[in-house]
Amino acid sequence: MKKNIVKHLLKTGMVLILFVCFACTKKEPSLKDAFKDHFMIGAAINTDQIMGSDSLAHAILIKHFNALTAENAMKWERIHPLPGIYHFTLSDSLVSFAERNGMFVTGHTLLWHHQTPKWVFEDSTGKPLTRDSLLAVLKDHIFTVVGRYKGKVQSWDVVNEALEENGSLRKSKWLEIIGDDYIEKAFEFAKEADPDAELYYNDYNIETSPKRDSALKLISTLKAKGIKIDGVGIQGHYHLDFPNLADIDSAIREFGDLGVKVMFTELDINILPKPENFTGANISDNYELHPEMNPYANGLPDSASTQLANRYADIFNIFLKYPGIMSRVTLWGIHDGQSWLNNWPIRGRTNYPLLFDRNYKPKQAFYSVINTVKK
Ligand code: GLA
Repeated sequence: MKKNIVKHLLKTGMVLILFVCFACTKKEPSLKDAFKDHFMIGAAINTDQIMGSDSLAHAILIKHFNALTAENAMKWERIHPLPGIYHFTLSDSLVSFAERNGMFVTGHTLLWHHQTPKWVFEDSTGKPLTRDSLLAVLKDHIFTVVGRYKGKVQSWDVVNEALEENGSLRKSKWLEIIGDDYIEKAFEFAKEADPDAELYYNDYNIETSPKRDSALKLISTLKAKGIKIDGVGIQGHYHLDFPNLADIDSAIREFGDLGVKVMFTELDINILPKPENFTGANISDNYELHPEMNPYANGLPDSASTQLANRYADIFNIFLKYPGIMSRVTLWGIHDGQSWLNNWPIRGRTNYPLLFDRNYKPKQAFYSVINTVKK
């Protein structure tokens, strides 16, 4: 009798456990499948994810994403830290992972003012390079990196963030030493290195003017000169209230009218309080941590989760208005725990900017994004 009761309990217990397991692994729909008739869904991945040691993230990546960007591994300081020294271990792994899984790769990035070592701009005595010698350094970098992945990396963010907030060309070493045509040169070198790769200009805050007007002018000038440029990457480091939806919408339309593909290349939504007058994505911004600037350290309340989900839905509804123009939406990370927004522009906060939570579970925002396409 006793034995039977134990048996029965074990049996029903097992059933219960099986039920709970089934419920918690309930198959959520796949993002990339949901948007397959509209645009690719990409993710920026970090070192653990490239090397496969973050196995939970790997499973999400394979199920939900069909495009990849290296969060840092292909930036100049990582891939070419010293003259003549290239480090390809991480980028090779990323590219072969993408090949095995049929994913589209964007090399990020060939020319930027940040995360580029000082030696790039100086000779061995520390003197600034001449225009010709800096162009030679840039050409060697682009030929070596793009050349290595010819036919394997389908697209490149050739130039990142060349514009200031007021729309003028950023006062970078590239501009100072080479002059205004450094952007053209970078695009020409990239095309020479791999004529079949798609080439993009990538920047933040180009949905809003005056920066938007300058980006439009930059692209149309390159095109008028016959320089190959295939797309514009709008980074999309967003807030709940910035930029406004009308700006996102008209920016896609206006860039699309130039005949280039439009993609959102670094999408995330920062829901934490902003330091005063703060917008944009300048990685050198840094403010002090005060407790009121970190209100969700112990978890995200429902109201905030809903605000985030609604904001994501509003934005994806705009993306869906532009078939044939919108080619990709890349999230800047897979899950909240890895986001740069936990440490920028204030270090040590708990942020919730992405579609999967710290436990690798799809969030309310994930379902609200999926629902935009189900309608
Ligand atoms: C910019 C760059 C990215 C990345 C983010 C912050 O947007 O384009 O590579 O550094 O800043 O992570």
